[in-house]
Amino acid sequence: MTQAATPAPAAAGPIPWNRPLIGEAEIAEVIDTLKSGWLTHGPKATRLEQAVRERLGVEDAFAVTSCTAALHLAFLASGISAGDEVITPSLTFCAAPNALLQAGARPVFVDVDPVTLHITPQAAEAAITPRTKAITVMHYGGHMCAMRAFRELADRHGLLLIEDAAHALHASRDGLHAGEAADLATFSLYANKVAAAGEGGLLAGRSDLVHQARLLGRHGIDSSAWQRHGKHNTADYEVTVPGLKYVMSDLTAALAVVQYGRLAEFTARRAAIAAAYTNALAGLPGLTTPTVLPGTEHGWFLYAVLIDPHAAPLDRDQTTAALLERHQISTSVHFKPVHSLGPYRNMIHRPLPVTETAAARQLSLPCYPAMTDEHVDRVINAVRDLWLCQAGAHRTPGENTTG
Ligand SMILES: Cc1ncc(COP(=O)(O)O)c(C=O)c1O
Repeated sequence: MTQAATPAPAAAGPIPWNRPLIGEAEIAEVIDTLKSGWLTHGPKATRLEQAVRERLGVEDAFAVTSCTAALHLAFLASGISAGDEVITPSLTFCAAPNALLQAGARPVFVDVDPVTLHITPQAAEAAITPRTKAITVMHYGGHMCAMRAFRELADRHGLLLIEDAAHALHASRDGLHAGEAADLATFSLYANKVAAAGEGGLLAGRSDLVHQARLLGRHGIDSSAWQRHGKHNTADYEVTVPGLKYVMSDLTAALAVVQYGRLAEFTARRAAIAAAYTNALAGLPGLTTPTVLPGTEHGWFLYAVLIDPHAAPLDRDQTTAALLERHQISTSVHFKPVHSLGPYRNMIHRPLPVTETAAARQLSLPCYPAMTDEHVDRVINAVRDLWLCQAGAHRTPGENTTG
């Protein structure tokens, strides 16, 4: 691993739920951009887009300001508009449903599988109507959905297939990378993601759709500022469609391109932490560790456990509070189901019982490369101590359980 410029959290202090790992290479690349005189979308963003094309084998890629921007552009570029329905999970972040509402379309939430927490091709097929225009899958936590089956389903019904791969920058399943099977895929480089650039996103996929998204993402202008730079008249452009402004700046791209190049290294460390957690926590009553299906390389954005309040000594919210108050360990929850949130609450939805149960039980433990082995042991010992103490066993808090 390259030298970290951001120190790891102190071994004995609070363990945050997430923290980026920024090295000297990232800092040097950002300084290079600052000194170059070119700050907006230019050579660094172009390098990042090339790296995405090469990694995923997709026809084209566009570096934008966020995954939310990429989703909005994906829907607009695909022609999704008023009256269209798009099938999507509710157990997700609000970004895709919000962008659908902004495009005038209706998100149709379908329930998830209780093991993978993905929507399934069967559930999606049951929700198809004559108004359905697209399916937007989400690779929960970094574990890819069954993309070969979704591709077949979308083709059979003449639907667009969009991957919200915010969690799956470095993931594969059945020989496909996340982003490879879809018409368009979106990725997040938000501060807590597997490659972190503070804010940032990527849109990848079919060249005709990415071309349209690129126009829409730079005001509809037919050439970029970088392409016009150095020409006699930089105002020599045409506006082809009424677009928005979503291009990634080169300052962000400088950070992103280095982080993107470290995905294999970052994911390997996340996978090692995940393996240590599963090894130590599987078998605790009422606590289900994540399942990795055969043929899958998990991206490990999340290490998501499910806590069954009827079988575990503590429920999810009690676990969250005890980890924080007794052990200074922060956790997170993914997600509040979107159908229960403001703009969606009063809409009519299909029943989503698995989504609601999972949302009440799910807990994300800290799992990121800036964690040391001591942090990992502290998390393991804290969870085991909570379970064993509550269950009446007498163990010394902090006793090493990982061997
Ligand atoms: C599944 C999912 N999609 C989209 C997003 C939005 O990403 P961004 O913050 O880059 O817009 C997130 C953010 O966490 C997410 O979890």
